[in-house]
Amino acid sequence: MATKMEVLISRDTIAEGVARIGQEISRDFAGESVMLVGVLKGACLFLSDLARQIELDATFDFIAVRSYGNRKESAGEVQLIKDVTTPLEDKNVVLVEDILDTGLTFTFLRKLLLARKPRVLKLAALLDKPSRRLMPIEADYVGFKIPDKFVVGYGLDYAERFRNLPDICVFSEDAGK
Ligand code: IMP
Ligand code: MG
Repeated sequence: MATKMEVLISRDTIAEGVARIGQEISRDFAGESVMLVGVLKGACLFLSDLARQIELDATFDFIAVRSYGNRKESAGEVQLIKDVTTPLEDKNVVLVEDILDTGLTFTFLRKLLLARKPRVLKLAALLDKPSRRLMPIEADYVGFKIPDKFVVGYGLDYAERFRNLPDICVFSEDAGK
């Protein structure tokens, strides 16, 4: 797909950030196993690349949420639409998200997953927009802090489009036509 959108983080830089997070997770859980829980759909490309940078015994599961609001703002209400299918009790769980924005999604999922009594729960976000935070939450692993711009690509969408762009781009209405 051709796009005229401005590249914010190139595929090579993304790969470096993903490798760095993989090393951090491998070091933090050395000698143990981890369960990666990806938040559908945005985190699926990040999870699949990250998993290959983790030098530990790893399993995957997926969870899906819906946040109400318009296309570019998340609106305060988060609803679970697909739960994980494996027990988390006593596991080292890493919740894998595409982007930490207001923090509403992470806050909701952290509470939900902590109730399942994992041994450890860590949060990994490829992108972080700290200027937009509404909830007091930070990720344990962050790929890149970005300014308050709406981005697409590498899993991130605008109205379900552009998830397959290999670079992370600043969304512009014109370029999407
Ligand atoms: P939060 O609940 O506001 O932290 O938002 C998290 C979710 O909002 C992400 O998983 C994305 O689905 C979506 N989101 C936030 N910012 C962006 C963006 O710049 N591009 C695409 N999706 C975004
Ligand atoms: Mg989305």
